[in-house]
Amino acid sequence: MSALRFSSRFNPMLSNTILVQTKSLLFSFSSFSSSVRKPCKTLCCSTNSLLHTNGGTSNSSPLSEDELVGYIFGKKKATEVAHLVWRHVLHKGDIVIDATCGNGYDTVAMLKMVADESGHGRVYGIDIQTEALENTSSLLDETVTQKEKELVKLFPICHSRMDEVLPENTAVRLVAFNLGYLPGGDKGIITTSKTTLLALEASKKMLILGGLISLVVYVGHPGGREELETVEAFASGLCVDGWICCKFQMLNRPLAPVLVFIFKR
Ligand SMILES: C[S@@+](CC[C@H](N)C(=O)[O-])C[C@H]1O[C@@H](n2cnc3c(N)ncnc32)[C@H](O)[C@@H]1O
Repeated sequence: MSALRFSSRFNPMLSNTILVQTKSLLFSFSSFSSSVRKPCKTLCCSTNSLLHTNGGTSNSSPLSEDELVGYIFGKKKATEVAHLVWRHVLHKGDIVIDATCGNGYDTVAMLKMVADESGHGRVYGIDIQTEALENTSSLLDETVTQKEKELVKLFPICHSRMDEVLPENTAVRLVAFNLGYLPGGDKGIITTSKTTLLALEASKKMLILGGLISLVVYVGHPGGREELETVEAFASGLCVDGWICCKFQMLNRPLAPVLVFIFKR
């Protein structure tokens, strides 16, 4: 694991371093907040409100209908939709957090969105398992340049402690969670409702205006459904004036991952 190096605080490792039959698909898109709990009328209407509130981004084209409709018609995975939404929030040079690095696919995706040629942009990658960070580091080696990799800092800690490893007053544009267990790893090591809630609270404090908390929530394993309820309760409790919170969920695939986006206006 030559690409990882250690820093003095908390012994963190600092790295320099993606179905369904169309006709039978049922789809749910809803927004929720503390005072308003009604489903949005249409997918387009709700999505536009999310995307345009940010005033647009300089480095991306509008989220095309094809891309979103691809999810409805089973051609896009939940993680792909998450990446599409990130692209509309992020700018080159932004600071972002991958709160569950896993095998590194999300880390690489967000790095590509924020890394600029002058060395700005930063990805703070967190995972409770060293194995996951090793996988992430390896994927970075295979897919990005050394210069891009140097913008990634990896920390083997619980994401509930993210505020301890980021420099004070760091302006974070995106905190992404891909909950559950490490694919190909120990299925006994999973995210939990308690620490996920703590991490959401920490994320809320660090996020800048126009920033996003993105979650892919898996419900097929023990504790997964409860974790989704925790995430939904957290998002439902945020004030309408400051936050736009929405959920994408397959209705006829009860074990399909659920997407939650929490956007800070
Ligand atoms: C579904 S995987 C993430 C997939 C990853 N984002 C990717 O692109 O490959 C979930 C990860 O969360 C990690 N995890 C579990 N509990 C955690 C915690 N409390 N803090 C940080 N990471 C945790 C697991 O070790 C696992 O690697």
